[in-house]
Order: sequence, then structure tokens, then C-alpha cells
Amino acid sequence: MKKAMLFIVIFASLYIASGMSSVGAEEPDSPTAVISNHHAALRNFTAGAVTQGELDQILAAGVRAPSAGNRQPWHFTVVRNPALANQIVSNMPDGNILIVISASGDGKTNGREILDCALATQSIYLAAQALGLGSRIYTGPMDTINQRFKADLGLPNGYGAVSLVRIGRVLPGIDAVSAASSRKSLDSIVNYK
Ligand SMILES: Cc1cc2nc3c(=O)[nH]c(=O)nc-3n(C[C@H](O)[C@H](O)[C@H](O)COP(=O)(O)O)c2cc1C
Repeated sequence: MKKAMLFIVIFASLYIASGMSSVGAEEPDSPTAVISNHHAALRNFTAGAVTQGELDQILAAGVRAPSAGNRQPWHFTVVRNPALANQIVSNMPDGNILIVISASGDGKTNGREILDCALATQSIYLAAQALGLGSRIYTGPMDTINQRFKADLGLPNGYGAVSLVRIGRVLPGIDAVSAASSRKSLDSIVNYK
């Protein structure tokens, strides 16, 4: 009996702890589950085309992002050319694409424009995952893009890249909830006054 109780206590503690520290803690039907559960920068990309229909929906989500004063300072560049895409993010399987988000200011955009572009980036990232695709945000290659690839990418004059989202098909069997990395507990980052 004592052993059974101990087992139940350990199991319940592990269950609660896992819910506190990882995404997907919400009930599947909760209004926020659509955001929390589609939220992992998976690396299990595989070959396969992203269709134009999917791309249209993803770009529509990006363009609907909110921006300060509704200025919509962003420009989206879809990179489908594998030779060019692989110079920016290496070892991409066939069919993976990049969407480069840029804004005026030659890469020296002010904080407000960067925040606006970040929101568009997030919308693109989540829309791809909502369609069952993999997506990952990158800012690491921004210096390379802004120093070497602005012309190849056809960025508008005076624009600089702020971020990019890689999108592609993913191997089955790994879902965003189980594969997501852990997050800080709410207790450690939220205060109430
Ligand atoms: C602003 C931003 C920039 C990022 N830049 C890179 C990057 O350059 N290279 C990379 O591999 N991942 C990059 N990531 C992905 C993060 O490392 C990833 O989202 C984080 O580790 C959490 O992983 P998870 O969402 O799968 O739980 C970036 C994410 C964000 C939000």
C-alpha cells in the first residue's frame, strides 16, 4: 500500500513538473492552445516541397501582423533557389525555403521597426506550424545577408534583413509539444502587483 502511494506521489509530481516547464501545458481545447502547442523550433526538416497554397497562407499571416501606427515596415523575400538558400542556412534538404523579413534602414532599423518585424516573423513561424510544416526563426545569418546577399535576394533599396524563417516539411512522429525545449517556470518570471 505504502509503495503504491509513493508511486502515485512520484508520478503526480513528474506530471505537474512537466506541465510547468514545457510548452503544451494547456488543455488541448483552451483558447491559447493553438499558440502554445504550435511552438517548437524543430530541426527534423526533411525533403519535400512547400506548396504555393501553403506559402500564400503563411505570407497572409505575416502581412496581418500588428505594427506600430499600422506602418507595416516589413518586406518579405521568399527564397526558393536552393543554391542561394544554402549559402544562408547550410545543409537544407530539398524543398526547404527561407522567408527573409527586412525593413527600411539598411539593417540599422530602429527598435520600433524591429519589434514590428519580430511580430511578422512570429506570425509566419506559427502559421507554418499550424499548417503542419516545420519552421525555425534565425537571426544568426543577418550580418552575412546584409553584407553579402542583399542584391542576390533583391531586397528593396535601403532595406536590411532583420530575421528569417526557415520552412519545410518535417519527418513524421515528432510533434511540437513533445519535442519543444523546456521553458522557465512561470513562478520565476512573472510577478503580480
Ligand atoms: C529571435 C530568434 C533568433 C533565433 N536565431 C537562431 C539562429 O540563428 N540559429 C538557430 O539555430 N536557431 C535560432 N533560433 C531558434 C531558437 O534557438 C529556439 O527557438 C529556441 O532554442 C527554443 O527552441 P524551441 O522553440 O524548439 O523550444 C532563434 C529564435 C529566435 C526567437
